[in-house]
Amino acid sequence: MSPEIARAVALLRQGELVALPTETVYGLGADAANPAAVAKIFAAKGRPADHPLIVHIPDATHLDRWARDIPAEAYALAKAFWPGALTLILKRQPHVPDAVTGGQDTVGLRVPNHSVALALLHEFNGGIAAPSANRFGRISPTTAQHVRDDLGEGGNSSVALILDGGPCQVGIESTIVDLSGKRAMLLRPGMISAIDIGKVLGRVPLSPDDPLAPATVRAVRASGTLEAHYAPRTPLVLMPDDSLPIALRNAIVQKERIAVLATHPAPFEMPQVFWHVAPAAPTGYAHTLYANLRALDALGCDRIYVQKPVGQPWQAIYDRLKRAAAGSGTFV
Ligand code: TXA
Ligand code: MG
Repeated sequence: MSPEIARAVALLRQGELVALPTETVYGLGADAANPAAVAKIFAAKGRPADHPLIVHIPDATHLDRWARDIPAEAYALAKAFWPGALTLILKRQPHVPDAVTGGQDTVGLRVPNHSVALALLHEFNGGIAAPSANRFGRISPTTAQHVRDDLGEGGNSSVALILDGGPCQVGIESTIVDLSGKRAMLLRPGMISAIDIGKVLGRVPLSPDDPLAPATVRAVRASGTLEAHYAPRTPLVLMPDDSLPIALRNAIVQKERIAVLATHPAPFEMPQVFWHVAPAAPTGYAHTLYANLRALDALGCDRIYVQKPVGQPWQAIYDRLKRAAAGSGTFV
């Protein structure tokens, strides 16, 4: 065991917070069985206490330590996608702290696909409750430095240690599938798509706004599903690609400084415009999305224009961008 992992395990056992890399985004971890430790997560993030956390486990054999009445579908999805960017919502065991579940009768579980996270989880041999390691509502971190920028480390910070596992491979949060009801529900889209899940389950999960979805599911509080989330300080506007040139011309006339995120280069030379080219394929785009948004935000422009992605493979990315647009410009 590396000395860093040993230190992280000791800190978790003492009820301290440890930030850990996963393949999706960095998490802010605490011992999921220790309510006082979990409470520190909410304080550090400024997150409302009724928003439940995901419990990260070393492998699927730990499922029944946290969940009960586990349907066969859960094991099938775990076999297909774990370790990986998929969170399963299941009925919880009675001992799971309310601090973790937000008082709900369910618990979110995931085996992350990252060597550092897995080493930590196996050595800890328990559940690590971890939301994304950012302040509530802001852009999720995909590097250790992002976490340090947002929350600090050691000293006065409530984060005792940040494990550095390099940039996150996937780049956006896990897909969340609720298996606690009669029919599988997609609570948050991710790079593992509804179609991928449908191939394993035999039918695609329902989305919460589907008329067939039970009202209880629609009411569940999931911060990643709030209308405004993942937001930069600079107002962000989603622009259909063919509206970009006119919008930019207008902005230039208004003497505004604009940052652009698009999958192609600028069609012509534009003063006052900082144009950033993002990867043209969804996997590359997701991998760089949050670092790009942070970098564009740091330019201090009047607005960020993001080329609106179109099509099913872009569903999860579009979901994050829509929420970033809704929440942007509201933080000072
Ligand atoms: O990729 C990820 O999922 C990352 C990494 C660190 O694992 N974690 C993450 O955590 O995105 P967070 O807290 O930022 O988002 C977790 C989402 C929230 O929207 C939360 O409400 C939802 O999962 N969630 C957790 N437990 C739930 C439950 N029992 N029922 C419904 N939603 C739940
Ligand atoms: Mg989050």
